[in-house]
Amino acid sequence: MSEEYYLAIETSCDETCSSIINSDGNIISNVVFSQAEIHNKYGGVLPDIASKNHTEKIGVVIEESLQKANIELKEVKKVFVTNGPGLINCLMIGVTAARTISLINQIPVYPINHVEGHIASCFIEHKITFPALCLVVSGGHTSMFMLYNSKEFNLIGNTVDDAAGEAFDKGAKILGLGYPGGILIDKLSKNVKKDFYKFPIAKMGKNSLNFSFSGLKTSLKYYLDKNKDWEKNLNQIAASYQEAIVDSLLENLLKAFKKFNPSSIMITGGVACNSRLRSKAEEAFKNKTKVFIPSIQYCTDNAAMIGKRGFQLENDLNLKGEFEVFSTSKKLV
Ligand code: KG4
Ligand code: ZN
Repeated sequence: MSEEYYLAIETSCDETCSSIINSDGNIISNVVFSQAEIHNKYGGVLPDIASKNHTEKIGVVIEESLQKANIELKEVKKVFVTNGPGLINCLMIGVTAARTISLINQIPVYPINHVEGHIASCFIEHKITFPALCLVVSGGHTSMFMLYNSKEFNLIGNTVDDAAGEAFDKGAKILGLGYPGGILIDKLSKNVKKDFYKFPIAKMGKNSLNFSFSGLKTSLKYYLDKNKDWEKNLNQIAASYQEAIVDSLLENLLKAFKKFNPSSIMITGGVACNSRLRSKAEEAFKNKTKVFIPSIQYCTDNAAMIGKRGFQLENDLNLKGEFEVFSTSKKLV
């Protein structure tokens, strides 16, 4: 069969994304319009503003992904679209665009789970060896999975409250840095002392692989209340706060590694952009196992990962004319 082209769309939060993937599973184009600057002045993502911007941008983003792939809309043979979890108003924009294209081209449209998309992002640039232990760490999710192949996996740990990215974003807000907090804290933390203050890491019990981050931002608040002159040590405080998040993630990853003895480790999601997490993970598993982390463009929300997940499931997906759009996490397939 000659090469075919598929379109993937992702609009679950504040990035408007479109990608073209071919029938061999290769990413041909990947376009992201980030609304981060728009939401920066509000200190977080406002769902109505996000969906308004998706509506305004979705057409041009799809158009650009077609142009970059050097194909026309009529050549697209399948559409993959994120249907959850995410902000309902935002998901609806992507799903409506996907359904419209499927009607115009008379082609199937398939719903793709956003978290499964993040997992699939590790397969874009790397040949993963199984069984693999995967940490998905983003603004909305902090979960660990054991993957036995690209289709069979079990959830083995989850956050019981905030996600790690949320801890970065809330911490940055408390420190007066703006949104999105992760990248700002990451920048401030470079080349400064990381053990200036030891923020507490939540202990979830000897056998638990769960995470908890809500106490961390409270301890940051207490620290700032007690130390009125904290601003002069802003960088060290940010670095210490980041260290607590990174160490908490790595502690559980090491625990899971000992328990499941995987043949590789995958780390993905927006927080996987964090330079300290990337270097400490490499260090922690040096001489133990391979660590696969996607390049930055595939860690944060993007449509290439949705296309890749669609490609992985291609033969298992049924044509779904009708499908649910959902905001909360669901059991993954
Ligand atoms: O995967 P993503 O784009 O969206 C969700 O699915 O949530 O992740 C966004 C999260 C935000 O919380 C942001 O602060 C965090 O990823 N993030 C980072 C970095 N870059 C983005 N966190 C830590 N360090 C970074 N360099
Ligand atoms: Zn995401």
